[in-house]
Amino acid sequence: MNAPFSAASLYDRVSHVIPKAEWLSFSDDIEAIHRLKRERNAVILAHNYQTPEIFHGVADIVGDSLALAREATRVDADVIVLAGVHFMAETAKLLNPEKTVLIPDMAAGCSLADSITPEDIALMRQAHPGVPVVTYVNTSAAVKAASDICCTSGNAKRVVESLGVPKVLMLPDEYLARNVARETDVELIAWHGHCEVHELFTAEDVREMRDAFPGVTIIAHPECPPEVVAEADFAGSTAGMSDYVRDTKPGRVVLLTECSMSDNVAVNHPDVNFVRPCNLCPHMKRITLANIREALEGMRHEVTIDPAIADDARRAVERMLSV
Ligand code: 13P
Ligand code: SF4
Repeated sequence: MNAPFSAASLYDRVSHVIPKAEWLSFSDDIEAIHRLKRERNAVILAHNYQTPEIFHGVADIVGDSLALAREATRVDADVIVLAGVHFMAETAKLLNPEKTVLIPDMAAGCSLADSITPEDIALMRQAHPGVPVVTYVNTSAAVKAASDICCTSGNAKRVVESLGVPKVLMLPDEYLARNVARETDVELIAWHGHCEVHELFTAEDVREMRDAFPGVTIIAHPECPPEVVAEADFAGSTAGMSDYVRDTKPGRVVLLTECSMSDNVAVNHPDVNFVRPCNLCPHMKRITLANIREALEGMRHEVTIDPAIADDARRAVERMLSV
């Protein structure tokens, strides 16, 4: 029999990001979640925007949307708990139809996923006959099923160019489409969806930070408006941002993205100074240690996919993974 897991054994790693008293308040849930994972043969997949006590305390696999989708195909457990938003849990379920996929809060949505329906895709296809549809993974399974292929912020350019056509419908994130359009000769037709977190950053914010912190490195997520990305030093998916910090080791850095990202990356880089003008994603923040524990205790909330759309949605995700 395995010895019980001790939350204290993790504290050294996170000590420069999480105060000791706060970590102590998490210990009971962290230890219970480790025990439940063993009992249920479960793994926790956590997105880079999860809070550090989840990301560093209980997650088995962490990453951006692309990594979570890829890793979901390799999971060797009976149960997947998705610590992230609903579209991520749906993607994990599409790739693991025989496994139980749980999300601790069904209401963890996404403003991009809410911005478009399968009917909208049908209207766009009517307006642009023969033009293939690339949908961002931040969409419902029903929208994925109505599209030709998915993409994430980590592979959008590659996916668009893999189609070998001059024109593509790239939905629903207007800013991601406009940011990718600057890097490719493929003509991209966008939708009007926005991420409610990243649309708040402005080019003025970037200039103010450069004035306040001379020499600072500014990294933006491609869901930010194009004028923000244009003034940043680098733009990439959440994994791309994290890799950029690891590879370039800036003295001082700003990540223009969701708040927990800097905390999570800072754990691995105590020598880098993180300036933190972040915006919270209210959907990501619905996931807590307490509801992860409840999810494993009660085996809830189980994510299911309508069988009428599951095969088509899976095809769009698998086609992306094969690019
Ligand atoms: P990434 O795929 O870059 O992790 O982005 C997911 C997301 O929801 C960003 O807001
Ligand atoms: Fe959706 Fe934006 Fe939240 Fe990501 S940060 S889950 S894109 S609302």
